[in-house]
Amino acid sequence: MLNLAVFISGGGTNLQSLIDSCRSGKLKAEIKAVISNNSKAFGLERARQAGIEAFHISQVVYPDNAVYINTMTKILEDKNIDLIVLAGYMKLLPIDIVRKYSGMIINIHPALLPKYGGKGMYGINVHKAVIDAGDKFSGATVHLVDEKYDQGKILIQRQVPVMADDTPESLAARVLEIEHQILPLAVELFIK
Ligand code: GRF
Repeated sequence: MLNLAVFISGGGTNLQSLIDSCRSGKLKAEIKAVISNNSKAFGLERARQAGIEAFHISQVVYPDNAVYINTMTKILEDKNIDLIVLAGYMKLLPIDIVRKYSGMIINIHPALLPKYGGKGMYGINVHKAVIDAGDKFSGATVHLVDEKYDQGKILIQRQVPVMADDTPESLAARVLEIEHQILPLAVELFIK
């Protein structure tokens, strides 16, 4: 059974998609920890409702960087985590953890990387940029996280059409549906 740690910052619908896939037995994996930098993230509530240990870890709570990194690392080690999943996580993982878990960290991004990645490209900004560029397609990407963060090896990508009357919100909703489908598929790639 693959032990997962899922990092979130917001609503956690991608987390919920993983919870449901694990619960149904479709995904031979178990979420052992949910970690959020945002104590108000509804995703923490989703974890609690699913009986999964939820942790609020942020640099505000742990201003000392060494304590911050050690606290996060201890959870990952104690839970024997095999795969770290960033699902709407708005912070950069500490480089020590990116190195320690190299090849075992994936992230879901709401666009067809390498387009619309990098600084400032998160959430609704991505969909706004796609519409402003007049692109006919968008989509979602799951990629490995390496030291360059969102330039890691692409694992799965899936396209959606951009409609002429799309708003950033309507496109975001269409992309999010695809995210929920490809994230469990990406996790499955790590199951021996
Ligand atoms: C998703 O669009 C994800 O691609 C982006 O942030 C959003 C997270 O949504 N990184 P949720 O918290 O999983 O609902």
